[in-house]
Amino acid sequence: TWNEVPAAPLDPILGVNQKFQADTSAEKVNVSIGAYRTDEGKPMVLSCVKKAEALLLEQSDLNKEYLPQRGDATYVQLCQKMLFGEKSKLLASGVVATAQTLSGTGALRLGAEFMKKFAKGKTVYISNPTWGTHNSIMTQAGVPFSHYRYWNAAGRDLDLAGMLEDIEAAPEGSVIMLHAAAHNPTGVDPTAEQWGEIMTVCKAKKHVCWFDSAYQGFATGDLDIDATAMRAFADEGLPLFVSQSFAKNFGLYGERVGTFSITCDTPEAVKAVMSQLDIIIRNLYSNPPKHGANIVKTVLSDPALYQEWRDELKAMSLRIQDMRTALYDELTSLGTPGSWTHITSQIGMFSFTGLSPEQCTQMVEKHHVYMLNNGRVSMAGVTSKNVKYIAKAIDDVVRN
Ligand code: LMR
Repeated sequence: TWNEVPAAPLDPILGVNQKFQADTSAEKVNVSIGAYRTDEGKPMVLSCVKKAEALLLEQSDLNKEYLPQRGDATYVQLCQKMLFGEKSKLLASGVVATAQTLSGTGALRLGAEFMKKFAKGKTVYISNPTWGTHNSIMTQAGVPFSHYRYWNAAGRDLDLAGMLEDIEAAPEGSVIMLHAAAHNPTGVDPTAEQWGEIMTVCKAKKHVCWFDSAYQGFATGDLDIDATAMRAFADEGLPLFVSQSFAKNFGLYGERVGTFSITCDTPEAVKAVMSQLDIIIRNLYSNPPKHGANIVKTVLSDPALYQEWRDELKAMSLRIQDMRTALYDELTSLGTPGSWTHITSQIGMFSFTGLSPEQCTQMVEKHHVYMLNNGRVSMAGVTSKNVKYIAKAIDDVVRN
């Protein structure tokens, strides 16, 4: 039985991670998956998370009962504030529908399932390039998608004109997927002025803007600054979907903590939308897990832990910035042909190096430096110990 089932290719990101695990070379380096590492190359559990877990264990009324399909109400409220801000007009008028989700991927899939039922025939426009799973989630869910131009390879910057043209050309009322901050994989975000132009086109075309917020705090080190673009769209009254992940900014990768939000016109519409999300969730996985949401809820509602989290987030993003400078300096001192200033000017967790697919293959096969085939290096995996080795490998593949 099942002899006719063909073997599937490995996932373009998780598959590289698997190959890294299987490599027996002592020199191997993993800069594939977007997961933070300490300068010793180790995964890190934030101190605020450990403290929150200790507090949770002390709670006498802690139980393992089911959450409702839409998740923990207090957690959801705290997440809404983190996304839309303390002074949000939308939150004050009760017009945001939000459900707890299985991190960002679960939020995206929930949104896709909602679209399938209530936005039939609408196409999602996704940046080119993007986090590959944006595309495959739509494929798996059966939601039509297309791309808008984003990356200008020649200037290693944003192709704003191309982006605006494609968003303008999309049929009225389309869904435009936007990276809220720290674009994955390019590390290039629109400036405030460019966001303004994007907003004007989206508003004129009555598009729904779907902000994917997987890196809040990683672009600038500040949670509020990283939400500025999305909040501006919200204040301007554009209809929004928002997917939120706590994988990177809380280091809660495996706990699967996130939310999915839909902005509505009235509180009545919120009620109806929530009731539909409940049905979708019930039939996908019944209800979300509690532990990670309890951690986030504890930290966000305790002023001291909240401050500690913000400090730890800043420290993570500063270490990444230091590694950008270190990698740039190593390449410059090796005299590696080409310009490498984009390594320090790009933001967030990734560097979109500009290496060709062949060069990326060489990085993996010859040098055991596991990066993505599209040229993306996770700067969060670069350390003061491996940066020289990575630079030498880049130098070699560029020269040969
Ligand atoms: C990444 O882009 O590496 C991360 O978002 C991890 C993932 O799930 O792909």
